[in-house]
This record gives sequence, C-alpha cells and structure tokens, in this order.
Amino acid sequence: MNPFSIAIHGGAGTLLKGQMTPEKEENYRKTLENALSAGFEALNSGKSATDVVSLAVQILEDSPLFNAGKGSVFTAEGTHEMDAAIMEGKDLQAGAVSLVSGIKNPILLARDVMEKSEHVFLAGTGAMNFAKSLGYTLEEAAYFYDELRYQQWQELKGTTHFQLDHSKSKETKESKFGTVGAVACDKYGNLAAATSTGGMTNKNWGRIGDTSIIGAGNYANNATCAVSCTGSGEFFIRGVAAYDVSCLMEYKGLSLAEAAAEVVHKRLMNIGGDGGLIAVDTQGNVALPFNTEGMYRGLRTSTGKSIIAIYGD
Ligand code: GLY
Repeated sequence: MNPFSIAIHGGAGTLLKGQMTPEKEENYRKTLENALSAGFEALNSGKSATDVVSLAVQILEDSPLFNAGKGSVFTAEGTHEMDAAIMEGKDLQAGAVSLVSGIKNPILLARDVMEKSEHVFLAGTGAMNFAKSLGYTLEEAAYFYDELRYQQWQELKGTTHFQLDHSKSKETKESKFGTVGAVACDKYGNLAAATSTGGMTNKNWGRIGDTSIIGAGNYANNATCAVSCTGSGEFFIRGVAAYDVSCLMEYKGLSLAEAAAEVVHKRLMNIGGDGGLIAVDTQGNVALPFNTEGMYRGLRTSTGKSIIAIYGD
C-alpha cells in the first residue's frame, strides 16, 4: 500500500492572532477538522484521491466561513460568481467552471465537466446550461447571503476597487477568508487537486482568477505532485504557479518542499504575488507554504502526521 495523505486550505491572507474571537477561531478549526477527517477517513477506506478532494472541498463550500460555495463574496452587481477546478494526476484529466451562479457546489460541476463532457473548461451561460442539462437545481440568492460579505461589498461598491476577502482591506477586522482547496495522494499512489472560490469582492467585467485555470491555481500530475493555490489570482495566473511547482520537480529535480517553497517565497514574491498553496507528492509528502501572515490549513498522513493551523506559527 502506498503511503496516503490529504491537505486542505481555506485561504491565505491577513490572519493575525487575536484578531478573531476564540469562538470564531474554534469554528474555523472545527470546519477544517470536519473536511480533513472526512477526507482522511475516505482515503483510509480506499476511496480515490479524486473522490477525496471533491468531498473535502464540498464540505468547505458548504460552510459560510470560507469564500467558496455558500460563503462566496459579492460581485460589483451584488451577485455571486464562482469558479472551481479539479484535476487527477493519473491521466491528467481535468474539469473547470467559471462565472457560475446559484450552484451549491461548483466543485461537483467542475467534476461533471471532467467526467461527463468532452471539454475541460466551461464558463458563464454555457456552464450554467451544462449544469441545467444535468439536472442541477439552482439555489436562491438568499442561500449565498452573508451579512459580513455584504458589508465587505458595501465598502467597495460603486468604486473600481476589488479585493480578495482575505487580503488587507480598509482594516475591516474580517479581511481574512478565502478560496478553498484540497490535494490528496491515495492508497494507490494517485494524486488529485480541487480548488473552489467566489473570487474577489466587487469583481467586475467577467473577472476570472487562477482557481479555475488549470496550471495556475490547480494542477495534478502523478509524475510530480498535486497543487491547490490561494491568493491574488492575477499573480498565480501570470506565474502559472501550480504547474511551476510541478515543473521545478520534473525538470529541475527539486523535492516537493523545495519546489513549493521556491514558487511561493521566490517566484511569486518576485512579481508581487501574495498567497500560498498546498501540495502533495506520490509518496504522501505534503508542503503548505504561504507568504502571507497566515493560511487556514490542515494536513493528515497515513504516517501519523496531523496538523490544523491558521497563523504563521
Ligand atoms: N485565488 C482566487 C482568485 O483570485 O479568484
């Protein structure tokens, strides 16, 4: 049996100790623990990496705490437009959706693109028509309403500014939620990565971040690693960040930890990119680097490692 492992994230950003109430911090930790333990138990029972990352991301999407699915931020029009992608390392199969609205779990739609269409990436009206053709029902806007997200939008509404909700805002104390993601290595040595986001508050003009762009915010390849990113998407797109981790392993012979650190602490920072990523390789090794104050994160391995953390400690 191959060593197996899972890692998850709930976004990176301005996460400082003492900024949250203990109750709120406990809620974050509990939700991360739910996603991590559900994923780890599924791996232990022999589920595929693809099933596991999809399950873990679905749990995070169902929480209002994170900027994905139910907790998605508001666009400039006061709507929610979500992006998601999934990829499996065995055959480089991938599925992605962008600019979808009303979909409870965009990660499931991305998986359906991978498994039930001839395509890799569907966006906007076409993606919504695809969902309808598969019988998806749409949630009312009220399902995605969150007072805090609404207030974040009010700060920016009518301006040309937009922001990741976990980046520094006008010092709203709650500037710290983000994209969600999961990566896993299963018992059979197969890798998968899944990522989902509501994008940026007050985003406009059909803005799409890195999350749904294969190789930018999400990538998996059994020859190297599986990666899920979080941070300012424009930089992760320009740096082709997730694929860059894989390339550094494949072409330069770096270890997972070295490649992940090189991308987050050097290559992204050189172009001004803030954020982090989670990554696993086929030996079940895990890396969780970030260049922000904190990142909601967790990992569990069949060799007994288990971590849930928020701050840069
Ligand atoms: N990293 C998520 C986004 O930029 O949309």
